[in-house]
Formats: sequence, structure tokens, C-alpha cells
Amino acid sequence: MESSVKNKIIIALDVDALERARELVGLLKSDVGMFKIGKQLFTRYGPQAIDMVHTLGGEVFLDLKFHDIPNTVAKAAEAAMMHGVFMFNIHALGGLEMMKQAAAAVQAKAEALKQRKPLVLAVTVLTSLSSADLSALGINAAVPEQVVRLACLAKTAGLDGVVASPHEIEMIKKECGQNFLVVTPGVRPRTSKADDQKRVLTPGEAIRKGADYLVVGRPVTGAPDPLKAVQDIIKEIEEQATDRR
Ligand code: C5P
Repeated sequence: MESSVKNKIIIALDVDALERARELVGLLKSDVGMFKIGKQLFTRYGPQAIDMVHTLGGEVFLDLKFHDIPNTVAKAAEAAMMHGVFMFNIHALGGLEMMKQAAAAVQAKAEALKQRKPLVLAVTVLTSLSSADLSALGINAAVPEQVVRLACLAKTAGLDGVVASPHEIEMIKKECGQNFLVVTPGVRPRTSKADDQKRVLTPGEAIRKGADYLVVGRPVTGAPDPLKAVQDIIKEIEEQATDRR
């Protein structure tokens, strides 16, 4: 399927075995443009997980959430770039200087090697944290306020966008501009269960609110028929888009 929706869906390959990840990519690549490789698969298999997706014709979102001193993150960012990933992420709480150096290192390396520059995203506040958790960490801001503050800092640092819950999309777009990308996990089709995601929206609702990309894991990878699950998601997004007109 060649549709713009295809390029907005990212399937999280949160599985134990590379073989299972390969099966999923093979099954879904006709309808999904990008696959997310996170700590689970990467810690076990390393760059061969990235190569597997590329070999099958997919793009990669490398979700390793780098958080360290600026020089270390800048070097890790260059390494991610050299694997040809389409996007990767770093923690905004690493600070302005860390984000600036990562963005600059990727830009310089891409120019030097004449390679595509990956999108660099910031993780703001993990969706598992509440305002009370922030307070225990000594951060006396409510979650939405902290999310917007960190998103704006990421923009100032030269990053391309953020990973954020579907409930934060509109606020971020308002404060950081429509071109600042928002990648949204925590979406659930109406027919699937929420798992441990607390504040979910449907894929269509998230796109309507302005999400540029959606990350979907278990509703697809845990479905009896993952391809049908993806096709149902695409249908729901297209129906919501039609309702809008
Ligand atoms: O299975 P599910 O659809 O909940 O998967 C969502 C994916 O997005 C997981 O890989 C999870 O680690 C990731 N994620 C998230 N919330 C964030 C950042 C990433 O759920 N704030």
C-alpha cells in the first residue's frame, strides 16, 4: 500500500527474538513504512536488528533515549547516524548543551559523509511519570508545563521534534510551531485494550490532533493477525480524516 498514512505508522518491535522481529517486518512492510527498535531488541542483537529492517526495505526509529554528558551523547548520535536510521531520540533532561552537541554532531557528520541526516527527537517527560513523581525528583512543575518547557528547549537546541503522549500534541504544536515534529506512542484502536498505557487516544484522534508519526506496539504485534490490525488502524485514520472534511 502506498499511502501517506503508511509513512505515519511506526511499529514497535518490542519482541525477544530477532526472528520474530523479521517475521513482523516481512508481514507488515507493505502497509508500514517504519519500525521502532528499542532497548529490548538492540541490547540483545545490536546493529544487526537495524540491518534486518533495512534489508527488508523498512526505515528505522532507533529508540535508545540517550542521556549522558554532551560529548558521549554526541558520539552515540554520530554512531546512530552511521547506521542509516531515519530517526533516533535523546532525553531532553540531559540539558540544552547535550541536545545542542548531539544535533550539531549529526549535522556535521551527515554533511561530511554526504548521508541523509536522521531526525533527532527529544523525550520530554516519560509517560510513566506523574506530577507527584516529578515533585519527588525536585521538579516543581506539573507534567504538561514541564513537557512544553522541555519541548521548547529541544527546539532551541536544534532538534527536529519530540516524543510525546497524544494529550500533549496540541500544546506542543502551539508553543513550538506546527513544523516541530511530534511522535506519539500511547495510541490504542477502539477495539484493543490499553495495557499499561494510561491516557490513550485512538490513532485517528492522535492524527487529528496533529501527530506526525504514531508508535504502535502490542495492539499490532500481539494481535492474532498483525496485518489486519494495521489495516484496521489505517482505516480508522482515513475515516477520521474523511469525517473532518
Ligand atoms: O505496545 P505499545 O503500543 O504500548 O508500545 C509503545 C511503544 O512506545 C513502546 O516501545 C514504548 O517503550 C514506547 N514509548 C511509550 N511512551 C513513551 C515513550 C516511548 O510508550 N513516552
